[in-house]
Amino acid sequence: MPLKFFALWSTAASALIAGVVGQPLDVRRANTPSDFRLFAYGPKESGIGGFPVFHMEGLAYTALNSSDSTSSSAEEVSFTLETSGSLVATIGGNSTATNGTTFLHVPSTSGNVGFTTAAGNSSAGTDAFGLYGGMLYLRAQEGGMETQWYAVAADTAGDGQLWNIKWNVSEIEAAGDGVFPVAIRTTGPDGELAE
Ligand SMILES: *[C@@H]1O[C@H](CO)[C@@H](O)[C@H](O)[C@H]1NC(C)=O
Ligand SMILES: *[C@@H]1O[C@H](CO)[C@@H](O)[C@H](O)[C@H]1NC(C)=O
Ligand SMILES: *[C@@H]1O[C@H](CO)[C@@H](O)[C@H](O)[C@H]1NC(C)=O
Ligand SMILES: *[C@@H]1O[C@H](CO)[C@@H](O)[C@H](O)[C@H]1NC(C)=O
Ligand SMILES: *[C@@H]1O[C@H](CO)[C@@H](O)[C@H](O)[C@H]1NC(C)=O
Repeated sequence: MPLKFFALWSTAASALIAGVVGQPLDVRRANTPSDFRLFAYGPKESGIGGFPVFHMEGLAYTALNSSDSTSSSAEEVSFTLETSGSLVATIGGNSTATNGTTFLHVPSTSGNVGFTTAAGNSSAGTDAFGLYGGMLYLRAQEGGMETQWYAVAADTAGDGQLWNIKWNVSEIEAAGDGVFPVAIRTTGPDGELAE
């Protein structure tokens, strides 16, 4: 009888401990933003005041109005940040592209920010995206936060400028015309929030 009682208590205690141990994971999951959009903010002279980031032919662009883009292949994109640090992209309302799940992709040192079906594909060599106060960053291998996002003027789009989103442009390119550092945030100019 005491043994059986102990066994019962033990099971209950295990469940309790499991519940307590499980809690931080649940909390973290609850804080994992899903189905949010990203917006680019540049210095005042750039005029980039919280423009939506969108997908066009495999690359990430921003413009005042993506529907104004010169290409009919411009598609809205929303994101989910996985606990692994991958940023899953839902392009044109469809997270399952022809070749599987699509992720935001940052080149290994510099270049166009785009989309790929290969996970674990960022400059830090890991699935290393993160959000800090709604700002998108890449976790550096040494542990710091890197935010080397740039908007580089591409073709004009309708009545507005179309911008390529690039990572870590060279000093020479950064000093050129039509190149601005940008912050990438989950909050739009009208206060659109993650989740
Ligand atoms: C964006 O452009 C499209 C096509 O030109 C237009 O129909 C739409 O109203 C524009 N949206 C905004 C927010 O300006
Ligand atoms: C999403 O894309 C896949 C593959 O192209 C297609 O089979 C599926 O029907 C699409 N879903 C929606 C809701 O458009
Ligand atoms: C899917 O993969 C095939 C073969 O690798 C490639 O030709 C095609 O362009 C890919 N499609 C997309 C939408 O990535
Ligand atoms: C930026 O590019 C330089 C080379 O131009 C490279 O040494 C550096 O590691 C890159 N930084 C990041 C964060 O990608
Ligand atoms: C990362 O994505 C780029 C662009 O799609 C691709 O060329 C490269 O092979 C990928 N690297 C890995 C390690 O999957």
